[in-house]
Amino acid sequence: MPLEARTWVRKMRGGSQAHLLVAEDGHHYVVKCRQNPQHRRILVNEWVSSALLEYLEIPTPRAEMIHLSEEFLREHPELSIQFGQRLEPVAPGWHFGSRLPVDPNRVALYDYLPDALLRQVANLGDFLGALVFDKWVNNTDSRQSVFFRAQVREWSEAARHSRRQAFVSLMIDHGYVFGGPYWQLDGSPLTGLYFRPLVYETVTGLASFEPWLERVVHCPMEPLDKAFRRVPESWLDGDRDEFERVLERLWKRRPRVPGLIEETRNARGNPFPQWR
Ligand SMILES: Nc1ncnc2c1ncn2[C@@H]1O[C@H](COP(=O)(O)OP(=O)(O)OP(=O)(O)O)[C@@H](O)[C@H]1O
Ligand SMILES: [Mg+2]
Repeated sequence: MPLEARTWVRKMRGGSQAHLLVAEDGHHYVVKCRQNPQHRRILVNEWVSSALLEYLEIPTPRAEMIHLSEEFLREHPELSIQFGQRLEPVAPGWHFGSRLPVDPNRVALYDYLPDALLRQVANLGDFLGALVFDKWVNNTDSRQSVFFRAQVREWSEAARHSRRQAFVSLMIDHGYVFGGPYWQLDGSPLTGLYFRPLVYETVTGLASFEPWLERVVHCPMEPLDKAFRRVPESWLDGDRDEFERVLERLWKRRPRVPGLIEETRNARGNPFPQWR
């Protein structure tokens, strides 16, 4: 549901110069603007990734289109993008919003956890699903995730009977899937990995990447099609045909994904020490 922005909260760190806003639904959103310094195309990448991750059942924040009105932007000159010394105002229109899973005034969100706490994350196995996704879509950024404490059953289908409170992880930052602005699908074997090796400690073979590998290999065209049809025109801005071809190539490369995981295993510094 497209939403109007209501309150500006602060600037976020990071290459896309995102802003934290509250929208009309009362939720907080990290908003990447169409004029972000990475590229307009990263909004398209984020949007489609969100739909594919949902299809693959890999936990990720809800994505929404956020509208910044002329009036809102006039009230918040802080909403600008820095290009070197130059400050460029954000233009009114639709931008990409990634919803915070919790109210940040009440629950702490973490970009990183030390290994001792990382081990306690209830859905640590989802990092294996995320690698399957990242290989499929050629995420040329490293894997990023956000952590917070929650009732596990509210976030994980697999733990729906659990009464436990624990750290949960959601996969974020998909601006550099499809090679970022380049929309290329061929990448190197070591991209897309998470910087803490412990998330891959349990890998003993390709079977460790199920059920996600199976889901990718047998993914119908429909989720891709549906995501494509919903990309706002102003984000594609003449790129619609090219992006359609990217998605066709993505669909065709499904059977290659197990091989891409094997290439990662065979790369220098095999990240899966238990896979012999
Ligand atoms: N849905 C979300 N929930 C909580 N925090 C989020 C969410 N989306 C983004 N963030 C926070 O906003 C920061 C910036 O978002 P993101 O990493 O997607 O953008 P970026 O500018 O591309 O960053 P980078 O330079 O790391 O690539 C993240 O590091 C994270 O702290
Ligand atoms: Mg990031």
